[in-house]
Amino acid sequence: MSLAGKTIIITGASKGIGERACRVFAQAGASVVGVARGREELENLQESIVADGLDFTYSVIDLVAPDAPEHLAALMKRRVPDVFINNAGATRPAAFQDVTVEDFDAIMRLNLKAGFFASQAAVKAMIAGPKSDQTRSVIHMSSMLGRVALPGRAVYAATKHALEGLTKAMALDLAPERIRVNSICPTYIETPLTRPLMENQAFRAFVSERMPLSTPEQPIGHVGDLDGALLYLSDSSLSDLVTGTNIVVDGGWGAQ
Ligand SMILES: NC(=O)c1ccc[n+]([C@@H]2O[C@H](COP(=O)([O-])OP(=O)(O)OC[C@H]3O[C@@H](n4cnc5c(N)ncnc54)[C@H](OP(=O)(O)O)[C@@H]3O)[C@@H](O)[C@H]2O)c1
Repeated sequence: MSLAGKTIIITGASKGIGERACRVFAQAGASVVGVARGREELENLQESIVADGLDFTYSVIDLVAPDAPEHLAALMKRRVPDVFINNAGATRPAAFQDVTVEDFDAIMRLNLKAGFFASQAAVKAMIAGPKSDQTRSVIHMSSMLGRVALPGRAVYAATKHALEGLTKAMALDLAPERIRVNSICPTYIETPLTRPLMENQAFRAFVSERMPLSTPEQPIGHVGDLDGALLYLSDSSLSDLVTGTNIVVDGGWGAQ
């Protein structure tokens, strides 16, 4: 692994998948910067990572606030990322015919628009920053719902399908800059995002039935199931020629 000394910036770092990614990258020797709104959670995360002698700092930014672009630009100028992970995201399940304009705007604004421009801030800093002989990497935390759909997920699936297209388009624009762009498409993973869904026994049963690798003990994925994909796509010594594609971590869901 050659992430030692690399600067990795992750959005949505205060909980769930992002929190786990911060720990994993810090353990791999990277200088990790977490971005989210929850100051207290970020502070606790910093305390626990730094207590292990590892490098983690954070920046409290609301990615959908009007002043987010200037905060992100200032952060990226201070800490030019070798790897940027666009991970913050949310969902508001509703059948297509019941989606309100407010729901649509909220999810599009965070999952797509904020991710698009946060990635742009990261890429601008990478291009303006010191040259590197290794490729840099942007990773979008997409979803299996960037490849397939489920009932009640029209807006979420639209944002994640859009991230899949964005991954390819960015990969083409940024190859000359030696920046690789890929996405990760997870199945349901146990986090604060999915906890309310998984409390519904009928939904649990549905997921177990649909995911071939689901077991009674672990019906859905664990945040640690994404460690390998995150490390691989971040580490240019492992994935130097990998761009414009995705790693699907879905327990076989999409194979059917
Ligand atoms: N869990 C799953 O089953 C699953 C499956 C496929 C894909 N994903 C994707 O993986 C990503 C992470 O999901 P998760 O399950 O870890 O979700 P989560 O536990 O709800 O965490 C979401 C993260 O995003 C941050 N966030 C939300 N709104 C924000 C805003 N306006 N500005 C800055 N940060 C914001 C939250 O921090 P604050 O609240 O502190 O701001 C939190 O750190 C999402 O993109 C999700 O779509 C998740």
